[in-house]
This record gives sequence, C-alpha cells and structure tokens, in this order.
Amino acid sequence: MRGGIIAKKIMIDQELAVSKGLVLQSAEVCTTCHNDESPAWKPDRYTLADGSKAGFDFDQAVNAIAHPVPEGYDPLAEGEAD
Ligand code: HEC
Repeated sequence: MRGGIIAKKIMIDQELAVSKGLVLQSAEVCTTCHNDESPAWKPDRYTLADGSKAGFDFDQAVNAIAHPVPEGYDPLAEGEAD
C-alpha cells in the first residue's frame, strides 16, 4: 500500500484513511519541515494579525494548501474509485 495509489474510497472515509496510515495534520507535523533549518525558511514569510512577521503560521499555511471536497460532490457516484 505504501507508495502506491491510494484509493479514493479510502481517502473519503477519514477513519478508514487513518487506519491505513493517514497522518492528520497539526502544526507539529508542519514544523518538522517548516522550521529555521529549512533552506527555504523565510523568517518574514507570514504576517500575523498583530502585524508582526513569522516564518510559519499554521492557520494561514493550512488555508493556503486546503483542498476541500466541493459541496454537493459525491465521490462514490463517480464509478472511477477503484
Ligand atoms: C516533509 C516536509 C514538509 C512538511 C511536513 C510540510 N511541508 Fe509545507 N513545504 C515543504 C517544502 C519543501 C515547501 C517548498 C519550500 C517552501 O516554500 O518553503 C513547502 C511549502 C509550503 C507552502 C508554500 C510556501 C509557504 O510557506 O507559504 C505552504 C503554504 C505549506 N508548505 C504548508 C504546509 C502545511 C500547512 C503543513 C502541515 C500541514 C506543511 N506544509 C508540512 C515541506 C513540508
């Protein structure tokens, strides 16, 4: 399974996905890479609500990479899941 294509029917069922190894994300996970040891680290990449700068801001970063399932979309109705 590892390294293979993960079936859509697994990814749409979060409980099942976690049981198969999906790691739910947290700031802790992100900052294993997004930290000042990264060659791409920019200490002023993010601007916080108070105007100060930060190299990583979990809330903004998560929004930037969000890819929610569109409302009304039924992945199981597609027939291409397996
Ligand atoms: C395995 C390492 C790794 C992990 C874990 C990781 N990232 Fe990244 N991320 C990268 C790399 C490499 C880049 C591209 C270089 C860059 O722009 O910092 C990147 C770029 C980004 C970018 C675009 C550049 C920026 O900082 O605005 C966002 C947004 C981002 N990651 C969000 C996240 C979020 C949110 C998490 C946690 C849910 C996360 N990343 C976890 C490695 C990682």
